[in-house]
Amino acid sequence: MTENVADKSVEQLKQERHRDYEVYPQGTMQEVFDDLADRREKCPITFSEKGGFWLATSYDDISSILRRNNRGFVSFPNIPDGKVAFGQKAQIPIELDGPIHTQYRKLLDPLLSPARIAAIEDDIRAVANDLIDGFIETGQCDVVPQFAFPFPGINFLTLMGWPLEDAEKMNEWVEIFLKGVPGGTEEETLQARIRASQESRAYIQAIVDDRRANPRDDITTTIVQTEFDGEPISDSDLSDLFVLMLMAGLDTVQSVIAQSMAYLAEHQDRWEQMFASPDSLEPAIEELLRWTSPAMPTRNVAEETATVGDMTLPRGERVFCPLNAANRDPKYFEDPDEVKFDRVDPKPHVTFSLGAHRCVGVHLARTELKVAFQELHRRIPHFRLVEGEKPRELMALTWSVDNVKIAFDPAG
Ligand code: HEM
Repeated sequence: MTENVADKSVEQLKQERHRDYEVYPQGTMQEVFDDLADRREKCPITFSEKGGFWLATSYDDISSILRRNNRGFVSFPNIPDGKVAFGQKAQIPIELDGPIHTQYRKLLDPLLSPARIAAIEDDIRAVANDLIDGFIETGQCDVVPQFAFPFPGINFLTLMGWPLEDAEKMNEWVEIFLKGVPGGTEEETLQARIRASQESRAYIQAIVDDRRANPRDDITTTIVQTEFDGEPISDSDLSDLFVLMLMAGLDTVQSVIAQSMAYLAEHQDRWEQMFASPDSLEPAIEELLRWTSPAMPTRNVAEETATVGDMTLPRGERVFCPLNAANRDPKYFEDPDEVKFDRVDPKPHVTFSLGAHRCVGVHLARTELKVAFQELHRRIPHFRLVEGEKPRELMALTWSVDNVKIAFDPAG
């Protein structure tokens, strides 16, 4: 865009760049990607009057905004329509900004370091194999409920040192938080969420009380014993933090595995390519992360003004930054809709975000994906979609697929 926008008011820009965007789109993922590509080409930052947010679509604009968290932008509220979830309270730590957020990152980063995650890799592998044991004899697997969903949930319990036998309970709560009551009324979903929230908080409170009384050598104890400026983290904040960590780690890993398995079921040559040599797997996972890219952050202008692309926007304007739009920018990724494991020296994807809020679970996520694909490949070298079954695309504040039903002949 070559026009000079410096003298235009924000209201004028909103009118000129008005193009609504559905955060919960109908249609197919490819239709949304085509729409995002069209915007990127014609006017990379548009204004959606519906929901009242700007939508960035280019890799450069999205990266630049995310990198400027605390320098012109803040994360709260991290939702495009600005409606704050869970009362008026910011989610910890994803919607905290400034020094309090830095304190949480100083606490969490070392607890999820590569060394900490390497120490539980064998446990993660055992979880993958237990889950595969559960369906291997049947020659079929409904990927989301039988593997992609429970796998990161149980790994989270392992990481935190919580009882593994509570996995089912935990998965039920998360399922209600994320999906509500499928087929139920709004009221039924609301009631189920309130119940799940009360139960999970009571469960977490018991763990917190236990660690206060009987400290152990685990991550949970470290977090429970942490003080910020001489004050312990309150029970309510601990509960918020643990629930956020669980949801952030579960939904995303599940989505990447589910979308990847749906794709690989129909592209078995790629499944083989992933294991062609010991060096093939890591770049293949990065490409799948780029291509699946489930998360969609929002940032808010927090200073008098901030530059967004070619515009200067005032305080309070929200910019929605779908990471899958950045990751499909043809400026950096040729044939962006294609999965290509042989991209030469690819630009780093932004699937884990950038800047202050870049995913704290990145090492755990990469290890989970590596182990999941290795064990699935070892035990299920070939698979296909069950005849007549088609994955269902789910597009909300994160993107995923379900109904990924595969059939296979187990390894001999
Ligand atoms: C493939 C898997 C994953 C993806 C794609 C992913 C993606 C992301 C993204 C995009 C953000 C930042 C959002 C923003 O900028 O507003 C984020 C933050 C976060 N993620 Fe992940 N994540 C993954 C796995 C995990 C795991 C396994 C954990 C484990 C607990 C985790 C915990 C968190 C937490 C606590 C934050 C908040 C960080 C902060 O606000 O400073 N994530 N993740």
